Amino acid sequence: MNPLPPPVEPPPAVEVPFFGLIAADLAEVERLLHRTLASSRGHTRRLLNHLRHYRGKRLRPALLLLAAHASGGIRPVHHVLAAVVEMIHTATLVHDDVLDHAAVRRHAATVNAAWGNHASILLGDYLFTHAFHLASTVDARACSLIGQATNRVCEGELHQIGERGNLELTEEEYLEIIDGKTAELTACCGRLGALYADAPDDFVTALGHYGRWLGLAFQIADDLLDLVGSEERTGKSLGTDLEQNKLTLPVIHLLRESPPATATVVRQLLSSPGNHKRTALSPYLSEHGSLDYARRRAEGFATLAREELASLPPSPGRAVLELLTERVVHRQS
Ligand code: IPE
Ligand code: IPE
Ligand code: MG
Ligand code: MG
Repeated sequence: MNPLPPPVEPPPAVEVPFFGLIAADLAEVERLLHRTLASSRGHTRRLLNHLRHYRGKRLRPALLLLAAHASGGIRPVHHVLAAVVEMIHTATLVHDDVLDHAAVRRHAATVNAAWGNHASILLGDYLFTHAFHLASTVDARACSLIGQATNRVCEGELHQIGERGNLELTEEEYLEIIDGKTAELTACCGRLGALYADAPDDFVTALGHYGRWLGLAFQIADDLLDLVGSEERTGKSLGTDLEQNKLTLPVIHLLRESPPATATVVRQLLSSPGNHKRTALSPYLSEHGSLDYARRRAEGFATLAREELASLPPSPGRAVLELLTERVVHRQS
């Protein structure tokens, strides 16, 4: 069995040193987001102001920009595309927090906690429509690729909600869900970065695959944080997967690999009401190697992502993409 990865310090909210190579480009993306999400109308303006202070890790824009950097160079169109994918991602989070009844996101109150579910649904819609409006300033191909990816993200969330409470969910089905809800968008970021750098087809394919493997590793790491992470460090409500009866990889492993008597106790625990599940489940997950198993699966996907980069010429962009594969697995936030 692989040893546990060493603990790491949480990265700063905006990773300027890590993403130093693309810092100026990320700043341009921020300007575009700021400009696009401006409204003169009262309540909308108040909601958008809430979002302005609501800054995540900007992983998807960074991925798109680094893919461009590593495969031909960043152009102004990449800034627009990076703003689009971040808006789509934020829209999915605003809606996801309604589904999860989450109170905290990006170290602030969720939109639903501060303004209610109705405002959240509409604000999520507003972000989606503004994202596609902005994408239309690029070209039809960008709209089509981002549209297809967003379709699958939404299908992934629908698939997940359809499987809520299914204690028989298999690892394969779980991977199908996270491939849709998370990896589809990160794959799209890799592809878009390379496509709009006019990179050769094999670079576009490799960076698309890179984004997919990275997204799978990233979501498995996120699902581990939901079980054993710190709310202070992640800046978001945790334990919501258990509360909402959404089975994730460590729990799937535990139910599959533990002796029948233990699996019965775990099933009862998962089916019981209340918010004690995270604490109650923790010793079982450790004892049966379920956390280690999920970490190894995440590391496996991160390795696949790294291997995709072998076809690209060595460059500073490629080096950061390589480092990112380690980062997403061994993160605390
Ligand atoms: C959260 O994504 C949703 C998942 C796919 C796990 P991030 O962890 O990238 O969220 P922000 O953008 O940094 O807040
Ligand atoms: C949501 O997954 C991912 C989306 C694509 C919306 P999670 O429910 O695990 O995301 P967090 O943990 O709330 O950020
Ligand atoms: Mg959630
Ligand atoms: Mg999560």
